[in-house]
Amino acid sequence: DKIPLVFQPYTVKDLTLANRFVVAPMCMFSSTDGFFTDYHLVHLGSFATLGAGLILAEATAVVPEGRISPADTGIWKDEQIPGLKRIADFVHAQGSKFGIQLAHAGRKASVKAFYSDLPESAYWKDNVVGPSGGADFQWDSKHHVPRELSLQDIEETIKAFGTAAARAHKAGLDTVEIHGAHGYLIHQFLSPISNQRTDKYGGSLENRARFLLEVVREVRANFPAEKPIFLRVSATDYIEHLDGPSWDIEQTVQIAKWVKEAGVDVFHVSSGGNTPKQLINATFGYQVPFAERVKKDVPGIEVVAVGLITGGKQANEVLEEEKADLIAIGRAFLRSPNFVLNAAQELNVKTKFSAQYERGRM
Ligand code: FNR
Repeated sequence: DKIPLVFQPYTVKDLTLANRFVVAPMCMFSSTDGFFTDYHLVHLGSFATLGAGLILAEATAVVPEGRISPADTGIWKDEQIPGLKRIADFVHAQGSKFGIQLAHAGRKASVKAFYSDLPESAYWKDNVVGPSGGADFQWDSKHHVPRELSLQDIEETIKAFGTAAARAHKAGLDTVEIHGAHGYLIHQFLSPISNQRTDKYGGSLENRARFLLEVVREVRANFPAEKPIFLRVSATDYIEHLDGPSWDIEQTVQIAKWVKEAGVDVFHVSSGGNTPKQLINATFGYQVPFAERVKKDVPGIEVVAVGLITGGKQANEVLEEEKADLIAIGRAFLRSPNFVLNAAQELNVKTKFSAQYERGRM
């Protein structure tokens, strides 16, 4: 019998995954000063002991002011490397692979951290930045009024993505995922909702995509050529019900072609997050059609589908129907860290348990 595609190994460049289940990046708001801790070792490590092919660590800030909250993880200084390496070594010892999401929150920075009881003084409001600044670009009343990035700020931010990628390599990570989704800084540049610059970083799609492409090239230059780079984007701003320009799937397909040229190996298709006016109908597999569209229209691109994929059969079907190459799963992994073992049961696959868990097999 054929092994279901989702349980077949997957290779991109020098990275080979035991299966096609990816733990989606998920902020845990459990850091101090950006450091990965015992919490992250246990949280991320458990997915490795339980057979996830690839684990993507949460949105991790390339500069301190790029954190969503003061409790986010960070990779802006060398001291943050060992904590990350410890997790990478553990994940590798379990036969899984490990990547990190490189992020800058832009105008969505410095908001209240879930489950953390941080004092007011932990937050910052002066250095909350975006492609465009001023009250018109404040995300909502819980967010700060952003300051417009200068050309020099932009250059420094791009450099910070590069040095972060170099640190991720030093920590022994197998890949980095550039966070270009969910209304964070890169998405803010892409979308005309949040980017009304009049210089070379605003206006035409080519200009709005310039920041992303420069980040991609900088990350590529600082990360070994044989290691793949992932990019996560939002395929739409979901404001078709309103007049005016926004981000959509047509532009997403175009930038997918550009970033592939610039060095992105795997394109991770999410959606939304750039305006509180968005109207999303999140049903099972709701983002899969976007992934499928990119895969069909951009020859040779590797695509991750994500979004309310909650079972093994559902995941496998997306792959068998050639709508995507990998499946990322977020909340279902939180509900059940042994998601992969359940999926194996569901698909009747005799996947290898970790040696320590082998006696749990029925
Ligand atoms: C997320 N998500 C998310 N996305 C991202 O790109 N970077 C991140 O750091 C986070 N953080 C995060 C935290 C938590 C607790 C959740 C639930 C989600 C979004 C996540 O990666 C995923 O795209 C969505 O959850 C949709 O997939 P599921 O959960 O339906 O499988």
